[in-house]
Amino acid sequence: MKKRNPAKPLAENKHLLKWVEKMSDLCKPDAIHWVDGSQEEYDALCAQMVRSGTFTKLNEKLWPGCYYARSDATDVARVEDRTYICSYSKDAAGPTNNWVNPYEMRSKLKHLFRGCMAGRTMYVLPYSMGPIGSPMSQIGVQLTDSPYVVVNMRIMARIGLPVFEQIDRAEKRVVPCMHSVGAPLKPGQKDVAWPCNKEKYIVHFPETREIWSYGSGYGGNALLGKKCFALRIASNMARDEGWMAEHMLILGVEDPKGAKTYVAAAFPSACGKTNFAMMIPPASFQKKGWKVWTVGDDIAWIRPDANGRLRAINPEAGFFGVAPGTSNATNPNAMASLAKNTIFTNVALTPEGGVWWEGMTETPPPQLTDWQGNPWTPEIAKTTGAKAAHANARFTAPASQCPTIDPAWEDPAGVPISAFIFGGRRATTMPLVFQAFNWSTGVYIGATMGSEMTAAAAGTIGKVRRDPMAMLPFCGYHMGDYFRHWITMQKRLSEVPRVFHVNWFRKGADGKFLWPGFGENMRVLKWIVDRARGRALAKETPIGWVPHYDDIDWTGLKFSEEKFDELQRFDRALWRAEVIGHEELFLDLHDHLPKEMVYERELLICRM
Ligand code: OXD
Ligand code: MN
Repeated sequence: MKKRNPAKPLAENKHLLKWVEKMSDLCKPDAIHWVDGSQEEYDALCAQMVRSGTFTKLNEKLWPGCYYARSDATDVARVEDRTYICSYSKDAAGPTNNWVNPYEMRSKLKHLFRGCMAGRTMYVLPYSMGPIGSPMSQIGVQLTDSPYVVVNMRIMARIGLPVFEQIDRAEKRVVPCMHSVGAPLKPGQKDVAWPCNKEKYIVHFPETREIWSYGSGYGGNALLGKKCFALRIASNMARDEGWMAEHMLILGVEDPKGAKTYVAAAFPSACGKTNFAMMIPPASFQKKGWKVWTVGDDIAWIRPDANGRLRAINPEAGFFGVAPGTSNATNPNAMASLAKNTIFTNVALTPEGGVWWEGMTETPPPQLTDWQGNPWTPEIAKTTGAKAAHANARFTAPASQCPTIDPAWEDPAGVPISAFIFGGRRATTMPLVFQAFNWSTGVYIGATMGSEMTAAAAGTIGKVRRDPMAMLPFCGYHMGDYFRHWITMQKRLSEVPRVFHVNWFRKGADGKFLWPGFGENMRVLKWIVDRARGRALAKETPIGWVPHYDDIDWTGLKFSEEKFDELQRFDRALWRAEVIGHEELFLDLHDHLPKEMVYERELLICRM
């Protein structure tokens, strides 16, 4: 096979060629590499990063096709305080987003990007969020000086030649995405394993649909298709075009008759979204023929079809999952997904060339190299408390490797959505499950959802942070307008999905979790699916419809009616405090708040 010259443009689209030339003039890279997306190119980039020290190739027998990276200790997570929505007006971004005047920000970025790729290669990385060619997909081109980003994006999105072909056919608007780690090299200067810059900017221009990211090589700051495009920019597109870009997993529940019901669910981070998306039902349910199928674990793009039914696609092609806590006990499907062809970042390394993280096995290996490259033993950990893996250590794994990946996960038309589920981590107040009375109550429940902060920082434990629809860090415009968009979606639908709220984390007086969680959540999911299909009973309470004890299938689990009542208990005093918490959020958003939210709150108070 003739070897391709990566410096040669792979597209003919003159707008793209001109933009690449202009950005190359600005960033001054040493070379340009047009990404074709092939396996050969992926292998070559990985080998190049092994040579440069960014990657360690894992033991091929234990972890076939896997690589390991350690980030700079200052570049380990999304940086919300450095993330900006630079709409023309501050009012359009709303009080929950950082805003800077776009003209001011552009001149700041021009300054930062000038010469920022010196000594590096600029990769021209075309990607499709959603299956290539699906009417629900969108296209971006990321210019980046990070080969780590290119190989991660090859797992997380569809990239390369087929996307260039689409751009040449000019079928869709392309979202331009600029990314630099912000670490130019002087002639002869030796590179570091994880180049980045102390100064970080993750910037979105919603009206011109542009993303500029500077200074970070990590996760959502750098893999621009994910949070930046698929949520912050896409939420703007969705509002303008009448669809929804949501921070939601999508799963399909197959019942014993073989019928499938798809649901989409929003949970803030650290609430078990990936586990829920890949849930394995209890043995008694499996025996009867219940099965859960995974469509996506993080983002859903949802659109009414010609018949007025909502259909959803997962715009991503991989899982960028949190490693700590993932194990064969908590999520065997995730473990199978990451067993090969996976990139691990900031986990710990075993002497055999394998990886480990807290929670992977009950007993840690006797000896490891931690995420910062230091020797780690259980004894050291006991005295210093040092974690072997960073709490936000990640795996980047192909979704196609998930044993429960739904056969329709790449259906260009998406899957029909019958229910939305909202949930948070709440030790009190919130029952295991309740169903909204109707769409606008459902929107209210999503808008007011909250989660207790788990960080051990003094005074914060148990404090509820409102995270509307789990979109607080991801909505690219005013939250009040976002609620309005949710409300108005109903008018476009012939059949409205049912809306539910769940809480796996309620605790009893003894401080222990009341609910076993994980696979047992299937019992709740079955009730939700049966409600959505009109085949389960419920009773009315001030907050919504709840199951009677007998409406839940308890086969295979001993769970008393008393305990269930405690789990479902509606406590007036706690709900008073809850509703006051809703008002706090609404005060911040009041001049854009749809009146339905005010009425729903009033009705809730009346019912209480
Ligand atoms: C994620 C997040 O990484 O929500 O998915 O932070
Ligand atoms: Mn997420």
